[in-house]
Amino acid sequence: MLTGKRFIVGVTGSIAAYKAAILVRLLVKAGAEVRVVMTPLAKAFITPLTLATLSKHPILVEFFDPENGAWNSHVSLGEWADGYIVAPATANTIAKMATGVADNLLLTTYLSARCPVFVAPAMDLDMYAHAATQTNLSILRQRGCEVIEPASGELASGLEGKGRMEEPERIFEALETYYSRSQGPLSGRRFLVTAGPTREAIDPVRYISNHSTGKMGYALAAELCSRGAEVTLVSGPTQLETPRGVKRIDVETAEEMYQAAVEAFERCDGAVMCAAVADYRPAQVADQKIKKGEVDWQLSLEPTRDIARELGGRKGDRLLVGFALETEQEREHALAKLQKKNLDFIVLNSLADPGAGFGVDTNRITILDREGRLEEYPLKSKAEVARDIIDYLETYFVS
Ligand code: C5P
Repeated sequence: MLTGKRFIVGVTGSIAAYKAAILVRLLVKAGAEVRVVMTPLAKAFITPLTLATLSKHPILVEFFDPENGAWNSHVSLGEWADGYIVAPATANTIAKMATGVADNLLLTTYLSARCPVFVAPAMDLDMYAHAATQTNLSILRQRGCEVIEPASGELASGLEGKGRMEEPERIFEALETYYSRSQGPLSGRRFLVTAGPTREAIDPVRYISNHSTGKMGYALAAELCSRGAEVTLVSGPTQLETPRGVKRIDVETAEEMYQAAVEAFERCDGAVMCAAVADYRPAQVADQKIKKGEVDWQLSLEPTRDIARELGGRKGDRLLVGFALETEQEREHALAKLQKKNLDFIVLNSLADPGAGFGVDTNRITILDREGRLEEYPLKSKAEVARDIIDYLETYFVS
């Protein structure tokens, strides 16, 4: 994603300046072209030689070279770049950026930059939390800067808290996400993905659930995101890591999933309903743990809301994709679901297929749509299946 891109890395006077070296290295390794601009104080924290060697270009600090009067043009630098990353950004530099102070090359370059600007703050927790810094950051955000939030942890001062510059690897990932989002075929589109199981409590220690691990839904969310879409993943309990760039909302019950999905769907262009939502929940949830007895015990269940069907009722011209996991008369049942839930297409996987279904890393699917089209795919990894499904989905968005 970042190959051939041109970046300016702006380094300010913070102890986190050493991390800029790693960021520059990651960018160069990814095939990006990098120029480094430093504030005069930054040179006290990391040598220009280090950053010049890693970026393969002399670093820039002064407006001109006092030896020969050669001018370092901040205007052409600002025009040259595809992205400007100020990392680390001190409270001082953030304040100057917010007010338009232009007393060093890093700042004049910022004022003349026409490209996206990223700011990775690095400071002590109280400086970061201070109303002045927060106001300055919100001014920068309003002006379109991407603020890469600092992490929490041990600070150079010895204190613990939020203010550590985000790790270079995470900054690099944020850049990758940003540029894939602005370039991919689904750029500017928003999707909701539901994934994983739900849990319906019987009492404080027991629940009803199913074998879904969320793998297929997470793979779909990752695939949509890699094609430039903005993805909200509403997830039941899983052991999986959130795919990079995806906004995840954790829920537990079908009702919580319903609330989160309905809210997110409002802002979306489409939804992929991959969650294995409980169809029934206990009619009553006991306040205390139910005691073991000697006689049979009947658990009374009531239906949950069908989220896909509810969204189908309010979909308008949004795209709605569902899944069907069947054990018999698969196509008939899948088609019935497509109609009942007002889906645009449905992805059928059969538990009868070896390698398809819960927990495994592979899946074998058939896609059925409203026009009666039927597409069968061979057994593939869930990541590859996600690619096939999103290829199919993409055809609905090409005019
Ligand atoms: O009717 P069935 O549960 O088999 O339908 C499966 C499809 O409906 C899946 O896309 C699933 O995510 C969705 N669904 C839902 N809410 C429910 C039940 C199923 O969104 N309560």
